[in-house]
Amino acid sequence: MENPIEKSLTELVISRIKAENPRSQEILVALVRHLHGFIRDVEPTEAEWRTAIDFLTRTGQTCDDKRQEFILFSDVLGVSMLVDAINHRAQSDSTATTVTGPFHALARFYESGDTIARGKEAERGEPTVVSGSVLDSNGQPLKNATLDVWQSDDIGYYDVQDVNQPEMNLRGVFKTNEAGEFWFRTIKPAAYPIPTDGPVGELLRASGRHAMRPAHIHFWIKAPGYKDLITHLFVAGDKYLDSDAVFGVKDSLILDFEKKANAADARKWNVSTPFYHVHFDFKLESK
Ligand code: BEZ
Ligand code: FE
Repeated sequence: MENPIEKSLTELVISRIKAENPRSQEILVALVRHLHGFIRDVEPTEAEWRTAIDFLTRTGQTCDDKRQEFILFSDVLGVSMLVDAINHRAQSDSTATTVTGPFHALARFYESGDTIARGKEAERGEPTVVSGSVLDSNGQPLKNATLDVWQSDDIGYYDVQDVNQPEMNLRGVFKTNEAGEFWFRTIKPAAYPIPTDGPVGELLRASGRHAMRPAHIHFWIKAPGYKDLITHLFVAGDKYLDSDAVFGVKDSLILDFEKKANAADARKWNVSTPFYHVHFDFKLESK
């Protein structure tokens, strides 16, 4: 038989919410309604509810200044990409956006053409040239835009995950020139698993899901008067493009990393052969 509290509790809790800020009111009421709806749907046992609380507790305890397990939790549930989709509707002319992820860090500025690869990763990895421009949505070049770039190494590790990599390896900030162009040298990134040694890894295993992200380079592009663009360029042909663990792939961001063996091309870009070249023009939306 239904306990009377079961029937009336949701409305009672909602009736007590009297936030000063109307947006807070809207969010808190919806939170209670959806959370109670979830509980009514699932009807957890008390042991199951304790497991859920324990999961959230451990998710918080796994976070520190280098590890953000809550972002990862949001990412693997598709929540980050849903927030992204809602906040970037109707932008047909600007570059598609995707997740920031947990591995961004404040890196140093480099000159155009510099390499962001150092240490044994630079010796081992496949040389890659990344070039392009930053444009407004009408295709006009944006000079002095900044491109904050970060990526994994050739075996799928970020510097912050690997104590053997030089600090700030495979990350850096570049500026566009007068014509809105940029270029830099790096190594070809590899597909990698998102961290699975914490609660989010348990969640993936319990769901029968893999943890892999297809190979990509991250970009956070800023120009005065324009909205920040946070995106990736994905390597065409990667076997995880259709099953990204965080749902971040968009077709327009999948690019051919063209393999080149021509010595004149290599001289032009100051790399050895063979090397990969990827070119992309980013389009920013005005504020
Ligand atoms: C990343 O691409 O760095 C990333 C994004 C979401 C979760 C984990 C990693
Ligand atoms: Fe990444």
